[in-house]
Amino acid sequence: MKKITLQGLEFEPYISHEEIAKQVKRVAAEIIDDLDGDQEPIFICVLNGAFIFAADLYREVNLPHSQITFIRFKSYDGLSSTGEIREVMGLTTDITGRNIIIIEDIVDTGTTAAELIDVLSKQNPQSIKLATLLFKPNSLLNQVTPDYVGFNIPSKFIIGYGLDLDEEARNLKDIYILSKDKYDTDDMNLCM
Ligand code: IMP
Ligand code: MG
Repeated sequence: MKKITLQGLEFEPYISHEEIAKQVKRVAAEIIDDLDGDQEPIFICVLNGAFIFAADLYREVNLPHSQITFIRFKSYDGLSSTGEIREVMGLTTDITGRNIIIIEDIVDTGTTAAELIDVLSKQNPQSIKLATLLFKPNSLLNQVTPDYVGFNIPSKFIIGYGLDLDEEARNLKDIYILSKDKYDTDDMNLCM
């Protein structure tokens, strides 16, 4: 894996697709365990960023009677969160009485996840769990605890495997991290 440059910014390889696949398998096993025999959960993929993780996780969980549906929120502009969440595309599926698993690409400030949980709770599901591929615990500004986390990462900007910089780079198979971020104080250790 080589460094890449996007919009004049340098990114270095951070998490390989092999490592991602391993953690997707682990998260899928945890979800199946917690479902406790429920064969018909509903997965809600938060567009756009989560679509690749959702495709892999949904197939890995592999329950023929489960459903997947989509919702779209937008909060990021360039490298930072705007703090304002807009629902760009609403839910079309009835989730009353069902076990829900939200699939997020990343929980950063947690504003999107908090808003989403709030919106979905009003539709009376049986339960709501939050699965995120990536979690930046040091950026969290809301009372949100992801139930399933692929990787805990420092508060640095990353791209690839669905995550974008202004809608670019979602198609990278591996995850890359911004090389030099003068605002950043975290170390680069990956903790799982
Ligand atoms: P939050 O509402 O601040 O938790 O941000 C959630 C959304 O911000 C995610 O679903 C992503 O779309 C975006 N986001 C947060 N951190 C990053 C990042 O490092 N790279 C790309 N997008 C990010
Ligand atoms: Mg985004």
